[in-house]
Amino acid sequence: MGRVLIGVTGGIAAYKVCDLIRDLRRDGFEVRVIMTPFAERFVGRITFETLTGNRVHSDWEEDPLAHIDLARWAEVFLVAPCTVNTLSKIANGIGDNLLTTTVLAYEGPLLVAPAANTVMYKNPAVQENLKKLRERGVLVIDPEWGVLACEEEGEGKLASKERIVHWINYAISPKRFRGKRVLITCGATREYIDPVRFISNEASGELGFSLARVLSWEGAEVKVVAGFTTAEEPPEVEILRVRTSEEMREVVLKVFSWADVVIMNAAVSDFRPKETKSSKIKKDRDLNLHLERTEDILKDLGARKGSRILIGFALETENLLDNAKKKLKEKNLDMIVANPVDVIGSGHHRGYLVTKEGYEEFSFETKIESARFIADRIARLISS
Ligand SMILES: Cc1cc2nc3c(=O)[nH]c(=O)nc-3n(C[C@H](O)[C@H](O)[C@H](O)COP(=O)(O)O)c2cc1C
Repeated sequence: MGRVLIGVTGGIAAYKVCDLIRDLRRDGFEVRVIMTPFAERFVGRITFETLTGNRVHSDWEEDPLAHIDLARWAEVFLVAPCTVNTLSKIANGIGDNLLTTTVLAYEGPLLVAPAANTVMYKNPAVQENLKKLRERGVLVIDPEWGVLACEEEGEGKLASKERIVHWINYAISPKRFRGKRVLITCGATREYIDPVRFISNEASGELGFSLARVLSWEGAEVKVVAGFTTAEEPPEVEILRVRTSEEMREVVLKVFSWADVVIMNAAVSDFRPKETKSSKIKKDRDLNLHLERTEDILKDLGARKGSRILIGFALETENLLDNAKKKLKEKNLDMIVANPVDVIGSGHHRGYLVTKEGYEEFSFETKIESARFIADRIARLISS
């Protein structure tokens, strides 16, 4: 995946980096750690050595060229937590320990995730140094609002590991979607029978959220219109929540004019009760439900698609490929991803990717791999 060098400094949030390293290793990243001498008072190097599987560096004791070797090794350099002390040193080109010297010797993408007491963080000297870093192209992962270790509430909490992982992926990804506005729908709609009962399906939203991740790493501005989901939401992406197919349709039609690429991944109900009762239906007798067709949002969009790229999804129990080809044509789509029913709500993903040119069969263990594959094919469509 990529080689991440993490510089850990002497802030109370240093312990949070342990969890971050676990997530990065799970995602396939190779990780090395440099600690400032002060950071060693907060977390022992043995913890980072065990979690990364690599020796931790804090001085030149064993290798006089450590700063050069580490700088050359890293594909992305993250300083987290970054104390206001180290942040100010980096902004002013000071190299008085292995970490700050390695920053000076490094030419790739540099990310800093500051964490400090609010007053320290808001100090005008620190804010000026932050401005300098941003102007120089350093990616500052803003701290969050919350209760801090000093028991005060304010801005200064280290960014969540999900946000940090997002920006690391952003830093190492190509930018094939820079300047593109992408609308993605995902999740399941609910069609209400009465205030507590509804018709729905098992869509988790995982593939749509994975696509949102991958496309925003590649520079797209992404808006997700999500029904009900169980998958973890992507950070740094705008998510508009809807409940019913009618709400989905209203919001999608509003966002559609803004978008260059539209990916309709949501499992929108094809039927809804003709009537929704305003109070809970009593169970004193049998109940017949009269279902009516919902609007076909995808077909509507196909009719007004203009120069947009429009991608649909098909879930079928039989004649998967033939039905997908038919749907591609009928709904005026550029691409359709056809899945057998067993992928719904499951981790793996397989099926066919169909375009006007032909089709490809695919099978992936995870939805993020699948999202990378689909994103690659969309990038090809854009550049063709
Ligand atoms: C218990 C404790 C917690 C600290 N937490 C932070 C912090 O969260 N952020 C920060 O900027 N400095 C914090 N400091 C101050 C730094 O440790 C101090 O500025 C130190 O010189 C930083 O060195 P370094 O940047 O080389 O790691 C803390 C100090 C102590 C004693």
